[in-house]
Amino acid sequence: MQDTAAPFHPATRISSIGVSTILQITGMANALKRQGRDVIVLGAGEPDFDTPDHIKEAAIAAIRAGETKYTALDGTPQLKQAIRDKFRTDNGLDFALDEITVSTGAKQVLYNAMMATLNPGDEVIIPTPYWVSYSDIVEIAGGTPVLIPCAEADGFRLTAAALEAAITPKTRWVMLNSPSNPSGAAYSAADYRPLLDVLLRHRHVWLMVDDMYEKIVYGDFAFVTPAALEPTLRDRVLTVNGVSKAYAMTGWRIGYAGGPRALIQAMAVVQSQSTSCPSSVSQAAALAALTGTQGIVAERCADFQTRRDYVVGALNAIPGLSCRMPEGAFYTFASCAGVIGKTAPDGSVIATDADFARYLLTARDVAVVPGSAFGLAPYFRISYATSMAELQRACTRIAEACAALR
Ligand SMILES: Cc1ncc(COP(=O)(O)O)c(C=O)c1O
Repeated sequence: MQDTAAPFHPATRISSIGVSTILQITGMANALKRQGRDVIVLGAGEPDFDTPDHIKEAAIAAIRAGETKYTALDGTPQLKQAIRDKFRTDNGLDFALDEITVSTGAKQVLYNAMMATLNPGDEVIIPTPYWVSYSDIVEIAGGTPVLIPCAEADGFRLTAAALEAAITPKTRWVMLNSPSNPSGAAYSAADYRPLLDVLLRHRHVWLMVDDMYEKIVYGDFAFVTPAALEPTLRDRVLTVNGVSKAYAMTGWRIGYAGGPRALIQAMAVVQSQSTSCPSSVSQAAALAALTGTQGIVAERCADFQTRRDYVVGALNAIPGLSCRMPEGAFYTFASCAGVIGKTAPDGSVIATDADFARYLLTARDVAVVPGSAFGLAPYFRISYATSMAELQRACTRIAEACAALR
């Protein structure tokens, strides 16, 4: 008898989760590159800088010292202490060591939190445009993402009225991200206040804040985090952060959070049966990042600011496009409403922002990500975590591509 394997069936929990548009665009860009085309990719979600040397050296020293074994489940005591100090100094937040968790990237922090708290039918409010992993993680964990569009006129920020209207008895979490991937928009203390007042009235709703881009804010924008603004919410706020973006450490995979002890313990249960602990060597590197000299963080932020100013200026000079000035992160989120409905030289019509992104890539070899991939159209995201020379070439090409539309 012939042994024929049954066809593969993915689990229901991942069946609604497709390959992200970002990966599709990257795949197309790479295919064009393989054909020898000079493609400029403006899609990277990571700094183009290298991890600072003192951090690398700390990791090498840790390897030599034999720090190569399992560590404590959710972070070494030394790293937790450094995170505790960071929260206190930077954010005015005081966590005990057992109110802090360390994971394999902030992504795992979020995953642990959702897996540890969501039951089928639980709703999670996610303002859009948003980092798409939020809704995918919520769905994998069995929850229901509730996407709330945030208008450019409101600075891509959630309004108190929209939050109030979205809350139901089933709401478990609200997820806020400031500065935001993809919009670069950030919430000031005054922006947060009305949202926190709504949450004070709805005691069953928890708040997950993703402060991943805290260190990349520009000008006189003052970064704040909700748990510090409203201490009475502290028993239902998870404050998430990490070293990936601030210290150019995306590959080291260390993220962390501070929150209520019971939640942190439940998250540790998830982590114990997935990754056991974050990498010992990466934890040593993260310790050096948090306790070492911070000067380089500000220097790099100044570089990002120069690039932001250039890209926003260049995009706003292109008829058909308009770009809000972002307060932080390393992304612009420009409107392409003015080119929708136009016709490309090959006769195809630009009906959506995805069409526009495809047109920029195929006609002018520039890869950007359409806003629809982040839940808000018609926009496109540029990551300016690349050299000024590349940005200048890219913006020139985008201008030429737009000028060729009829
Ligand atoms: C808003 C936001 N949060 C979290 C992360 C995940 O960071 P990590 O590398 O720590 O998993 C990213 C990465 O792109 C992000 O953009």
